[in-house]
Amino acid sequence: MEFLDVLRRRKTTNGPLLPDPVSEEHQRLLMEVAGRAPSQLNSQPWRFVLVENRDTIETIARISGASMTEAMSNGTFFERYKPYFRFSKEQMERTRSGMLFDRLPAPLRPFTSQAFTPRGQKLMNSLRVPQTLGAENRKLVAGSPLLLGVMLDRSEYRPGELSSFYSLFSMGAAMENVWLTTVELGMGIQFISFPMEVPGQWDRIVALLGVPDELELMAVYRLGYLPQEQRRPAIDWTSSQRKLPSQYVFRETCATPQAGWDDLLPPTEH
Ligand SMILES: Cc1cc2nc3c(=O)[nH]c(=O)nc-3n(C[C@H](O)[C@H](O)[C@H](O)COP(=O)(O)O)c2cc1C
Repeated sequence: MEFLDVLRRRKTTNGPLLPDPVSEEHQRLLMEVAGRAPSQLNSQPWRFVLVENRDTIETIARISGASMTEAMSNGTFFERYKPYFRFSKEQMERTRSGMLFDRLPAPLRPFTSQAFTPRGQKLMNSLRVPQTLGAENRKLVAGSPLLLGVMLDRSEYRPGELSSFYSLFSMGAAMENVWLTTVELGMGIQFISFPMEVPGQWDRIVALLGVPDELELMAVYRLGYLPQEQRRPAIDWTSSQRKLPSQYVFRETCATPQAGWDDLLPPTEH
């Protein structure tokens, strides 16, 4: 694929992946491109753990689903992230950022505007939405043939110090290399972050993966090949909308937004 096509097609996979194992050749390639990323003073602070063991994946899937259910039913998830949720195309057009929940089960649709009120939370809980979502998340993770744990060397990652910023930046570059390469290989990838939202759950994954004290587990992803027909989960969002260059690019000083480039970034239909 042309490089720019890969870049433009990159996206997050919310739906299922094929259960087929990811070939060793492709796993090697993903790790090669990760290792080619830039890093401060060539420190290469990243470490990766590839997980194909079904029991481990099942256990992480259960942790992820249960974490989602808990963070959604106790309201912490919505409280933390409500500035990013959009429930209409108009809202999405206006903000040009965040996640548009364009797919909700029918019984929920009339209540979307109340989703973040105490009443909405009660309603969602009484309809067992957090359980439905958690179960779906568990299935998605469990159905993934490959998980990727991303770790940072703690001698580089020292929160509060510049080295911490540098190592995070480097890890981001390594992950972007992996992410782009999944597009070339016909694969999908998704962050599994709910276990980070619930106290104690991340530690369970750290223990399962045998992460040593000198490393910090920063992220876990699920990966696999994409099915031809990409089925969307019962509750799903799109986030292909992007800000216009005039909203994020300035010329000479930050007082002057870039003019004349806004036709460069039409919304990508995923
Ligand atoms: C630091 C970071 C954390 C993210 N966390 C999650 C996540 O927990 N679950 C998820 O499905 N996507 C996650 N994403 C993906 C973003 O939601 C996604 O990149 C964004 O909505 C734009 O959509 P796109 O990747 O399809 O272009 C994360 C991305 C980044 C960079």
